[in-house]
Amino acid sequence: MDVDDVDTVAVLGAGNMGHGIAEVAALAGYDVNLRDINEEFVQNGYDQIEWSLGKLAEKDQISEEEADAALDRVTPVVPVEDAVADADLVIEAVPEKMDIKKDVYAEVEEHAPDRAVFASNTSSLSITELSEVTEREERFCGMHFFNPPVRMQLVEVISGAHTSGETMDLVEDVAERMGKTPVRVRKDSPGFIVNRVLVPLMNEAAWLVHEGEATIEAVDSTTKYDMGLPMGSFELADQVGIDVGVHVLEYMHEVLGDAYEPCPLLVEKVDNENLGKKTGKGFYDYEDGPGAEVP
Ligand code: 3HC
Repeated sequence: MDVDDVDTVAVLGAGNMGHGIAEVAALAGYDVNLRDINEEFVQNGYDQIEWSLGKLAEKDQISEEEADAALDRVTPVVPVEDAVADADLVIEAVPEKMDIKKDVYAEVEEHAPDRAVFASNTSSLSITELSEVTEREERFCGMHFFNPPVRMQLVEVISGAHTSGETMDLVEDVAERMGKTPVRVRKDSPGFIVNRVLVPLMNEAAWLVHEGEATIEAVDSTTKYDMGLPMGSFELADQVGIDVGVHVLEYMHEVLGDAYEPCPLLVEKVDNENLGKKTGKGFYDYEDGPGAEVP
């Protein structure tokens, strides 16, 4: 299969990343089945896409017609068999837990056509281990987008131990057709490239505050205005979801050692369900609903 054979993309998981990936795919002209485990989750993802496309049109980054056409290409779905039955590419973006992802792949393997390539948007987990749940290890790779997908240019395309060169080429071509810049990650190690660098930065910022060495505001203004990153460390944690950061750290801690122990400040936020922008509160407060902004 080559890039011209890909028409239908199934995106599994309509959360923060899933709906953004579905939007990017629909803008590139793909028919997209956006799937989540219940109507509420999938509708929420669909509403977020509608909001985001509206924003892009409002700023003349796309026309109203392009926004409407992209939204028309997205079909919200709950039954997994309906989502993947005609898929050429399945992009999975379900919660960052090995067991959950493995259960999803086992189910999807039963219903997806043989030709379909599976790509995981995992932030850190082993592509090789995930691929081994399926019967298509060579047609399985990582396809890691960044938050918010519609604004972030980079996509990491990660090879597992069994991934074929054709699969890597195909998924890189699809990423380019989506207007993204793919970077090939040849080593399937925890956090790949970006999160291996970025998530410890968020964790270290949290340890600084937890140990009373600095305030959240001091750390954020330093990372943003002195180091020149687009967001402060805590702003970024709120943007990606503090739970996502903690899941990545837990995995890195388990596989790579104590340097990656999640800071209690992050864990406490997760325990209290203050996960960042998506819940309206993290290290900062946000308005409710789609499009809540950093104050
Ligand atoms: N769709 C459409 N518009 C959006 C949007 C979306 N999904 N998200 C935000 N916007 C809009 C805002 O509503 C705001 O609109 P307004 O001007 O009408 O108020 C506008 O975009 C803000 O955009 P600007 O260009 O004015 O602002 P910035 O220049 O700050 O750019 C940014 C925003 C691109 C998000 C920038 O701050 C940035 O690059 N931040 C860093 C993000 C990052 O590093 N992400 C990667 C995290 S790691 C990750 O995701 C991996 C995971 O596995 C953990």
